Amino acid sequence: MTLESFNTITIVWIAIALFVHVTMFYVTAPFGRHTSEKWGISINNNLGWIIMEFPSLAIMCYFLFQGTHSFDSYVWILFGLWIIHYTNRTIIYPFRIKPTPKKMPLFIVLSAISFNLVNAGLNGYYLAELASPDKYGTDWLYQPNFMAGITLFFLGMYINIKSDNVLINLRKPGETGYKIPHGFLFNRITSPNLFGEIIEWSGFALMAWNLPALSFMIWTMANLIPRAKNHHDWYHKNFSDYPSDRKIVIPYIY
Ligand SMILES: NC(=O)c1ccc[n+]([C@@H]2O[C@H](COP(=O)([O-])OP(=O)(O)OC[C@H]3O[C@@H](n4cnc5c(N)ncnc54)[C@H](OP(=O)(O)O)[C@@H]3O)[C@@H](O)[C@H]2O)c1
Repeated sequence: MTLESFNTITIVWIAIALFVHVTMFYVTAPFGRHTSEKWGISINNNLGWIIMEFPSLAIMCYFLFQGTHSFDSYVWILFGLWIIHYTNRTIIYPFRIKPTPKKMPLFIVLSAISFNLVNAGLNGYYLAELASPDKYGTDWLYQPNFMAGITLFFLGMYINIKSDNVLINLRKPGETGYKIPHGFLFNRITSPNLFGEIIEWSGFALMAWNLPALSFMIWTMANLIPRAKNHHDWYHKNFSDYPSDRKIVIPYIY
């Protein structure tokens, strides 16, 4: 595929993200606390996470090991960061969350598979087949966008995993209900885990400095900002003592 056709496809994909973003403020994605039987056939929640995230991990591993890029360039760093994140999300996270009777609609699993196929497909294909070898050569490692981007990536990953840990540990074994989280960034915002994920992929886009990485950052924000708003509204509806000074997902701002 030519770079021109690839860019056209990526721009159309970004336009779809903007449409999904607006829609998600009106239609809450039905998984986790928002799950609903209205969405048809459902499967085990933990299994759902593994199945829906696996394509992203598999596609990036495929392009890393079977793509035509050269291991003389440092493009493997970008593959590596993606694979680290999705190893956690696909193989570790689903075994750490507490099992609940709640199920995940197949519709969500299929939607997430599509999201992952396209996002990992665009990023993997670009890095393996289209990026010029000079783009990720030794000079890249000394550029400010690389240094700032990789710092943001790991900062975001730290915030994401630490916040997921706080949430996972709120329930004692056997408990399935919800409690108000406190401490760390939870004193400032409702969803530090989603904030961390946004920081992570913003860092990735900054260091990678290419259109598909930008597209994935936009898709992450398009998904997670409305989800954080849905979580925030849910807490206010279900806990009369929910702290009124907490923002939704960006400390002090939103
Ligand atoms: N890249 C993307 O587009 C994308 C999209 C979605 C999610 N994610 C990532 O996937 C992870 C999970 O996202 P999420 O929106 O499902 O997170 P979440 O609603 O905050 O839930 C995370 C885990 O903590 C439990 N939990 C949450 N709040 C709780 C509370 N107040 N009391 C007790 N337990 C609580 C949840 O249980 P329940 O499941 O029973 O509610 C779930 O097991 C995050 O790290 C997020 O960044 C990424």
